[in-house]
Amino acid sequence: MPNLNPAGKREDSRVPRHIAIILDGNGRWAKKRGLPRTAGHAVGAETFRKIATYCKDIGVQYLTVYAFSTENWRRPQEEVSTIMKLLGNYLQEAIDTMEKEHIRLKIFGDTAALSPELRAMVERTEELSRHYEGIQANICLNYGGRDEILHAARRYARDYAEGKTDGELTEEGFASYLYSAGIPDPDLLIRPGGEVRISNFLLWQCAYAEFYFTDVLWPDFTPEELDKAIAVFSARDRRYGGVK
Ligand code: FPP
Repeated sequence: MPNLNPAGKREDSRVPRHIAIILDGNGRWAKKRGLPRTAGHAVGAETFRKIATYCKDIGVQYLTVYAFSTENWRRPQEEVSTIMKLLGNYLQEAIDTMEKEHIRLKIFGDTAALSPELRAMVERTEELSRHYEGIQANICLNYGGRDEILHAARRYARDYAEGKTDGELTEEGFASYLYSAGIPDPDLLIRPGGEVRISNFLLWQCAYAEFYFTDVLWPDFTPEELDKAIAVFSARDRRYGGVK
């Protein structure tokens, strides 16, 4: 059993402060079982619930997951609507259980393209959970890393044109225009599902993240798998471009 501090969190400096995960392999998980791809997404949503709670329990402060990319609209209509429905269910459930779970929820992405109902739920969940301090879960929805950077650049240009900024653009200043404003960069990026690429996820924020790839499909991902990833992360030597 890990040592727990008075807040019930694991006292362990090796636990990453911020973990990012690309949820991948739902479709293949379902196919292997002769089920429709949508069944894989349903189990994937369940896995997300379990992993978010586990992250909170071990003292991870931020968890960011890639649930739907700007490119995922190209999938069959039925699959897109199932994913949106699962997200809607999750948000509804989050509204009901927030008091207990103390998870602060944020959505990263261009929510303008979502249905008015889902957008309203996003706003409500973010507002209701704003003051919870257990863990912050960021769900990337209609998200793309390049799209995020473009949005930020456009917003910055607008502020500049309106004289709201002095034109001394720094990395920190630019980061404040990203969806992740105010949040530390991910320490560890996990990609289950066997692919070894970043797929337009958190391109700015992952500049110094440690990457961990595993063949385990997302619906099969367990707290033990997360422990394995954290153990590999702990053994890495992070130098941020310097020497030790
Ligand atoms: C990638 O697997 C997964 C997605 C594009 C959707 C992820 C969505 C969920 C898990 C549902 C709701 C999420 C939350 C956070 C409540 P894939 O379909 O690309 O798998 P494949 O590579 O095996 O085809």
